[in-house]
Amino acid sequence: MKKIIIALDGPAGSGKTTTAREVAKKLNYIYIDTGAMYRATTLAFIRSGQELEGFDFDSLMNNIKIELEPSESGQRTLLNGEDVSKEIRTADVTKLASPVAAVGIVREKLVDQQRELGKQGGVVMDGRDIGTVVFPNADLKLYMHASIEARAARRTKELIAAGEDVSVEEIAKRIANRDEFDSNREISPLRKADDAQVIDTSNITIEEQTNIVIDLANKIINS
Ligand code: DC
Repeated sequence: MKKIIIALDGPAGSGKTTTAREVAKKLNYIYIDTGAMYRATTLAFIRSGQELEGFDFDSLMNNIKIELEPSESGQRTLLNGEDVSKEIRTADVTKLASPVAAVGIVREKLVDQQRELGKQGGVVMDGRDIGTVVFPNADLKLYMHASIEARAARRTKELIAAGEDVSVEEIAKRIANRDEFDSNREISPLRKADDAQVIDTSNITIEEQTNIVIDLANKIINS
């Protein structure tokens, strides 16, 4: 059976990560959350204790190893062998991930790694530039988006469940700032690929989102 590449892009809180994970599980595909790779790089930068301005990302990228492993919850992220899956979800990492992900050498190295991970097909990859840059020839490209209210409500629920004390208003503000930064950076900004199909997830469940993607994928797999 054909093993396709599914590219799933969209802004923070659009439901793409959860959908990608569920779709991968159902199709028995590899799931790759590329945001986790930018987050792990950001954590390595934070641990260096240095300022962003003038930071030597070249050397950092040559000295870190980021690995993604399948786990019960979908994917485990390792930074130089250490499981950092939880730590990369903190507010500090989230905030700094946007400027770190805008650095050319960081993108270059991580995009190379992502292409290597997905080249055999049978993969669901989610991020901001998968359909535009990483796999412009992906078999199926989806762009998920949702209203800022829906996205903020989802993220707030997740963060509260993870023990953070946050308000939906604060999260809406943070998400809007991140969208603005990710969409306006010079290199590989968040953008819908011309041939991506759009899914508005504001008023649909994860199950519905997953089924939409599975149906589209099956049409291609069985064609
Ligand atoms: O999807 P996420 O929130 O885990 O992503 C973390 C940051 O990484 C976010 O600010 C955007 C950036 N990112 C990116 O620039 N390109 C990707 N393919 C994935 C994430």
